[in-house]
Amino acid sequence: MSPGGEDEIGSDHMSTGGENPGGDNPGGAGSTSTGSGAATATAVEDIRLEIPVQRPRRAENFVALCFVVSVLATIGLAITYSLGGQVQAEGALLGLGLGGMGVGVAAWGKYLMPQGPFVEDRHELPKPESDRRAFGAAFSRGSVAVERRGFLGKLLGAAIGVFSIVGIFPFLRSLYNPRPGNALDFTFFRRGSRLVRIDGRPVMADDVDVGGVLTVFPEGHAGDAVSQTLLIRASSVPITTLPGRETWSPHGYLAYSKLCTHAGCPVSLYQQQVQQLLCPCHQSVFTLLNGARPIFGPAPRLLPQLPIMDNGDGFLRAQSDFQEPVGPGFWERNTSTTLNPPKTAAGQ
Ligand code: FES
Repeated sequence: MSPGGEDEIGSDHMSTGGENPGGDNPGGAGSTSTGSGAATATAVEDIRLEIPVQRPRRAENFVALCFVVSVLATIGLAITYSLGGQVQAEGALLGLGLGGMGVGVAAWGKYLMPQGPFVEDRHELPKPESDRRAFGAAFSRGSVAVERRGFLGKLLGAAIGVFSIVGIFPFLRSLYNPRPGNALDFTFFRRGSRLVRIDGRPVMADDVDVGGVLTVFPEGHAGDAVSQTLLIRASSVPITTLPGRETWSPHGYLAYSKLCTHAGCPVSLYQQQVQQLLCPCHQSVFTLLNGARPIFGPAPRLLPQLPIMDNGDGFLRAQSDFQEPVGPGFWERNTSTTLNPPKTAAGQ
């Protein structure tokens, strides 16, 4: 500590006549001037002050670089988010922001802090005056010889601060973004929509063999994830339809939403022998011939069925949209085919 209070932390040479035995090891040793009136020059030989690297400046630079990377990545995240967002970029920048901070703090602790454990012999009390002065000097120095500890601390503060500010962006955006409204209740199927393949070609009534299966979409929206529908020709087995659905299955065709009612995975496996549909995600099984009722697994309700028709021109068409929302349940949903529909007040 300089007489005028100037902090010489990290200076390898803090001497009033002592040699500098620390050399490149600023934390290890040095001699300290204790200022006016305390002219005792006391060597600070305390292994507890040593840091575990020979070149602390390098370690400091590395820690500073980590914090700078974190700040820049977080600012980049804010910009990307403000411009509309891009999931992969946001994920990478978020990882850099958090990772830079984490690696910086870890490196700081690992390379720039004294590493214990330490064993200290018991000393006679009271301590000699020289030891007490040495301790005071070391304490004033901040115990470790990191030259730019304040600078690193500010960088770490900046990284945390910027990250905290950017963290409220999603909340701010939620304030002005509209809610989905009833957009989740509908697909693109309309009365008269032709069923088309993924390549847009319309499906004719005799295109699918008995026992065959095809993924279809509403015309003009081939590939739409929400509208994707399984079209199955169920063979000549009498189809057990739910009440009110007697006209929904011309030529033995059954059309069910492909989105599992559990978590929305595609129900993609048709087991022809047992006339069942299987969702591979969590093994929900739906009976094909009875309204796609779930008989196993976590799916809570029937797959929505698309009413289809053949109005004489050979094309398969939708009679209407699905009669209920497709996919997994969500709040505000009004559905009629839950397995255990809530009782009405009158029915209780
Ligand atoms: S998403 Fe189909 S069973 Fe879970």
